[in-house]
Order: sequence, then structure tokens, then C-alpha cells
Amino acid sequence: MTDLQRQRLLVTRTLPQASQARLDKGFKDVDIVQWKEDCAIPRSEFLKMAKGADGILCLLTDNIDAEVLNAAGPQLKVVSTMSVGYDHVNVPELESRNIALGITPGVLTEATADTTVLLVLAAARRMRESMDAVTHGKWGAWSPTWLLGSQLTDKTVGIVGLGRIGVAVAKRLKAFGVQKFLYQGTRRKEESEKTIGGEIEFVAMERLLKESDVICVCCALNDKTKNMFNYSAFSKMKGSVVFVNTARGGIVDQDGLIRALKEGKLGSVGLDVTVPEPLPKDSELLSFSNCIVLPHIGSATLETRTAMSEIAIENVLSGMKRERLPFPHDA
Ligand code: DGY
Repeated sequence: MTDLQRQRLLVTRTLPQASQARLDKGFKDVDIVQWKEDCAIPRSEFLKMAKGADGILCLLTDNIDAEVLNAAGPQLKVVSTMSVGYDHVNVPELESRNIALGITPGVLTEATADTTVLLVLAAARRMRESMDAVTHGKWGAWSPTWLLGSQLTDKTVGIVGLGRIGVAVAKRLKAFGVQKFLYQGTRRKEESEKTIGGEIEFVAMERLLKESDVICVCCALNDKTKNMFNYSAFSKMKGSVVFVNTARGGIVDQDGLIRALKEGKLGSVGLDVTVPEPLPKDSELLSFSNCIVLPHIGSATLETRTAMSEIAIENVLSGMKRERLPFPHDA
């Protein structure tokens, strides 16, 4: 075996235990370099460590752009992100260099749908205020009028993005007695409608905003969905709406959300994603008792994260086996 046949794999973070054990054992003819500190890889380190990589296994916290690809060099064959979302990857830049992209769809559907339901219920039932009351000694005698929230029975739920996660959210919420689902997305999805069953309708955004008691954001972040939920959209919602985003922070115009919350235009809000992440602890968003913010834990179960990291490893290894075609401009 000559050194020429060896490949270099950069892994930008320590992986869940089982997958990390595989990396530690190593792969035939692969030199692994890995950022193992307990923080996201700093950009300067990333650029240094990427040099000479044939494959990069990265996370959604790593911005994959021309600078990284240039730093890696023309031998780079594959970028495998341990995420289903790939808004942190400059896809046209990868395509123009014939670099494959691996993502981890499917395996995080259930965990993310669970988190969405968790936030819907927590926001609707005023979980933050309730827990704060207990912690801060504000728990008085049982009261018929204290901390009244809303329930899902007979309600209308709007789902924006009826992909795998949107469907899994709808199926779960149906069990809570939801009467009707409205959804929005790139097109009508009859198969998904059948899977969910019951009353479900593909509607214009205006109608979804106006008629939904609960709105769940389950779509990808792209040029079309960026800042889709702005002040104007929030102003069209019911004053009692429960608004939940477990997709990407960038889909919500956060200043618009803060303004709507300040003006009391929204019932309650649950967010698993924000801009930026982590959200600074002095962010105004954290000052509203009817807004619950989680630290992007949608897929954070041991089972799911292990499945994601296993797929990410398989993706990067298969990608590294590809014959590297020349850059289009080399031809
Ligand atoms: C993803 O994979 O895109 C998720 O946001 C991780 O939870």
C-alpha cells in the first residue's frame, strides 16, 4: 500500500459514542483528523485542518463555502453533514466542483416531531410560566382561573412544510383531537394527506395564517422561506395562536417576532431554533413569559443522533470511494 492510496478524512466534532468508537478504530487506508474539543470547530482551525481532505464529515454549525473548499483543495470528493438540513452548505459551489453532498434524512423525523409536539403543548399550556411560578415561590392555592392555557381538542393546526417531519407532527397531533389540518408548501401532497387522514387541506398561506389555532413550521430554510414569518405574517394570525418553529431560525424574522410578542399579537411561542445559535442570554426573545426557547434539541436523542452519525460516516466513506472527476474548468 503506497501513501498515494491513502485518503484523508476530516471530522469536525466528536461523534456519539458508538460512531466515535468506529472512528477511533479507524478505516482501511483512511487517515482521520478530527476536532475533538468540546466546542464547534473555530473557522481558522477548520480551514487549516481541511487542507488535503478527501472527505469532510461536518455539522450544521460548519459553514461549507468556497473558502473551505479552496482550503481543502481539488482532491475533495465529498462533504457529509450530520444533519438533514443543509442550508449551511453552498450547494452550487459543491456542484460546480463535482463534490458530493451527504445528508441524514429520515432518521430524525420522529425525534424532531416529538420535540415539535413538546413545544406545542408546553407553549399552549404555559409551561414556562408554570415552572417559573413553582421555582420562584409564586405557587398559591389552587385557583380556577390561574395559568389557563388552551388545548388541542377540536382545533385547527397549520403545518408549513408537509415533508416527513410535518407528516409525523400531524399524525401525533391528530391523537390530541385536532379537528382540521391546513398545510402549505411547494405543492399539494395527496399521499401525505391520506397518511394523516381526516380533514386536511392544502391552502394559501393567508388562509393558514388566519384560520390556524396552532402553526408548526416544519419546512427547510431556503431563499423562498427565509424570513417568511415576519411581522406582517404574525399580524394576520389569531391573537391566541400557538406558534412553533423546530425547523430553522432563519425562517422567522426575529425582529418581527419580538415586535409581535411585545404588542401582544401572539398567544404563545415555542422555538427550538433561533438566529443566532446559541441565542445570547440577553436576547429580548427570552424576556417574554409566553415564549419558550429550546437550544436546538429537535433530534437530540441518543438513538437519533447515533443513527445520524452512522449515516454521516457511511456517506463520507462512500463519497471518498468515488473516482474524482476533474473540475469543469480543468476540462
Ligand atoms: C438537522 O439535522 O437539520 C436538524 O436541525 C438537527 O436537529
